Amino acid sequence: GLVNSREIFKKAIKGKYAIPAFNFNNMEQMQAIIQACVEENSPVILQVSSGARKYANQTILRYLAQGAVGYAKELGKNIPIVLHLDHGDTFELCKSCIDFGFSSVMIDGSHHSYNENVILTRKVVEYAHRYDISVEGELGVLAGIEDDVVAEHHTYTQPEEVEDFVSKTGVDSLAISIGTSHGANKFKPEQCIRSAEGVLIPPPLRFDILEAIEERIPDFPIVLHGASSVPQEQVAVINNNGGKLKDAIGIPEEQLRCAAKSAVCKINIDSDGRLAMTAAIRSTLNMHPEWFDPRQYLGPARELLKALYKHKVVHVLGSAGKA
Ligand code: G3H
Ligand code: 13P
Ligand code: NA
Ligand code: ZN
Repeated sequence: GLVNSREIFKKAIKGKYAIPAFNFNNMEQMQAIIQACVEENSPVILQVSSGARKYANQTILRYLAQGAVGYAKELGKNIPIVLHLDHGDTFELCKSCIDFGFSSVMIDGSHHSYNENVILTRKVVEYAHRYDISVEGELGVLAGIEDDVVAEHHTYTQPEEVEDFVSKTGVDSLAISIGTSHGANKFKPEQCIRSAEGVLIPPPLRFDILEAIEERIPDFPIVLHGASSVPQEQVAVINNNGGKLKDAIGIPEEQLRCAAKSAVCKINIDSDGRLAMTAAIRSTLNMHPEWFDPRQYLGPARELLKALYKHKVVHVLGSAGKA
């Protein structure tokens, strides 16, 4: 069945790797995630955002995740699978997911005052732990769009707050802000430097803040949101097939490899999957204008997604072989 994230986080911190948390909204994404993680023998977190619930319906996503457990077994590997609510913003939403069989929830109180964040997070933890459901909290605000809230700048996590926050709330993991952000436009070109090959290199993540956090709460599970790398090959495929993505820039994989070796044990990736699906669909339909069966373009999209997820677990997060 579905598991909570406690054990897999413990192992990931000890083993110096990170568990992938991939967002899903539909069957093809779920299948690609499960195929990739079964073939690479990786634990995995299936993530459902509020937007995903609105798009696909919570009941359907819950049963898709249940289907994922059966599907993994059928493919021959009983890998640990977590069904996690991404960016829950109210107690009621978290409760609804817990009551309905999610094995993990995030309560994102990071837009509230510190004290309100503590109270809200504590309330969710008290309820969740009765059912052995793990809870992720957040301190600090990511620049860009998060839960319909748009922040102009990063508010980095203050290392002075983390010990008090985890002890007062009892959370199982903590999402932090060290320079990542959601979506496919994480940096403006003018914030980047251009390499000799013409590649834009964004400013590095604030590993100094991560270290200061780890000093205060050693070996406590840390979560990195907004960790897509925005592969330029996919952006080019999209734009060469009628797309118009401008200034799409992500987090360099080398930075994520570094993070995965630390207490960062969950790395959230959504945008890279969206880019892969769109690239495959655009190029497939461009090559075959006579096709109209959704399976003809969703099939290749699923294949490219699977390749992307395999790449992540093998070459970036290091979770391959750890199931
Ligand atoms: O946190 C952001 C995730 O990428 C989910 O995005 O709310 O558009 O589903 P979404
Ligand atoms: P990306 O937009 O970088 O993929 O981040 C996803 C995320 O953090 C989901 O919670
Ligand atoms: Na790690
Ligand atoms: Zn996020």
